[in-house]
Amino acid sequence: MNPRDKAWLAEMAISHPTPFGVLFPRVAQARYFELVDSFRGVAKTLHVCYSVKTNPNTAILNVLNKMESGFECVSLRELHAVSSFSTPKIFNSCASSDKEIQEALSQNAFIILDSLSHAEQVSRLSEKKPLNVGVRIRFDSHRFGFSPSEIKSLLPRFIELGLNVTLVHAHPGTNCSVSQYCTFVSHVAVFLEDFPNVHAVDLGGGFPGKTTLVERKEGLDSYVKIIREQLGSYLKTCALYLESGRFLVEDSLIFVSKIMHVKKGEEQSFALLDAGINVLPRISMSPFRFFALSETGEKKEHFRLGGPLMFGSDEFGQIHAKLGKGDLIAVENVGAYCMEMAWTLSRELPKIVVVE
Ligand SMILES: Cc1ncc(COP(=O)(O)O)c(C=O)c1O
Repeated sequence: MNPRDKAWLAEMAISHPTPFGVLFPRVAQARYFELVDSFRGVAKTLHVCYSVKTNPNTAILNVLNKMESGFECVSLRELHAVSSFSTPKIFNSCASSDKEIQEALSQNAFIILDSLSHAEQVSRLSEKKPLNVGVRIRFDSHRFGFSPSEIKSLLPRFIELGLNVTLVHAHPGTNCSVSQYCTFVSHVAVFLEDFPNVHAVDLGGGFPGKTTLVERKEGLDSYVKIIREQLGSYLKTCALYLESGRFLVEDSLIFVSKIMHVKKGEEQSFALLDAGINVLPRISMSPFRFFALSETGEKKEHFRLGGPLMFGSDEFGQIHAKLGKGDLIAVENVGAYCMEMAWTLSRELPKIVVVE
């Protein structure tokens, strides 16, 4: 982080109580352009459907909608958040209520079937028949979707239900390495050999954020190359859907937190902040980066960073700096999943300041 940005964030802390977040929707806009540019020409058509659960902040949804991004939703709340948008929508769920299905149908969202019981529910609630739907395929033993062999035997039943499978969906998991992604796409390619009549392939999410890509000396291009090599000929006549989340927003949000106390032990020193794993959950799998915005301590040393929760596990990073009580720490890369996964245990959620 450059000195000018550090000074600017420190100045914001004069008028905003810590901890607070600074959200840059323009970063999501820039990442959206990068994603679309990288995938240019890969498929007959491309639909990026932003995975709303990654960060449903209205400013993010609005800026992506202006870019003509579509949206992938997994709940009624998320469907309501995008109800005024007319770009393509995907509805993914393994445990949907009738209300959710009705809302998805009323917004013309593409419903991805997860089980036979789910298919029966969609059929019961849809007035339109046949209804074009997607099916989620799983290539390992997780609980989402159908195995490749199951889906083949179920197709006649879907036809009886008035459901026309025109899209195949699979998701590789979040934050995939290039080799994990390669294995995933090769499974999709094998599956599609036996399932040639679909009009669209939805590859879910899985691309890491920019920081991870740079750290791994990779770029989106490596992922695009895998898709081109393994699915290129298939996609010439097919639409490609991408439900990106992390890549679009991970680096769009920065938290600013204050050091409440510095504690010097015999062997190690701690800086204890007013934000902890309540807003920096490990499960977000984000590459947090810590920067001191002010350094009023006596000497530069190694600090373990801990939060305010009275849990031993509330420790989330390290920093080498000249820290003192009252100094500010900026945490980069908190845009994906952190706010949605944040706990309100003992503390309120940080306020988010949107910088247009
Ligand atoms: C079905 C589905 N699509 C898209 C995503 C977004 O993934 P990512 O943030 O890795 O892009 C997820 C995340 O878990 C998901 O489960």
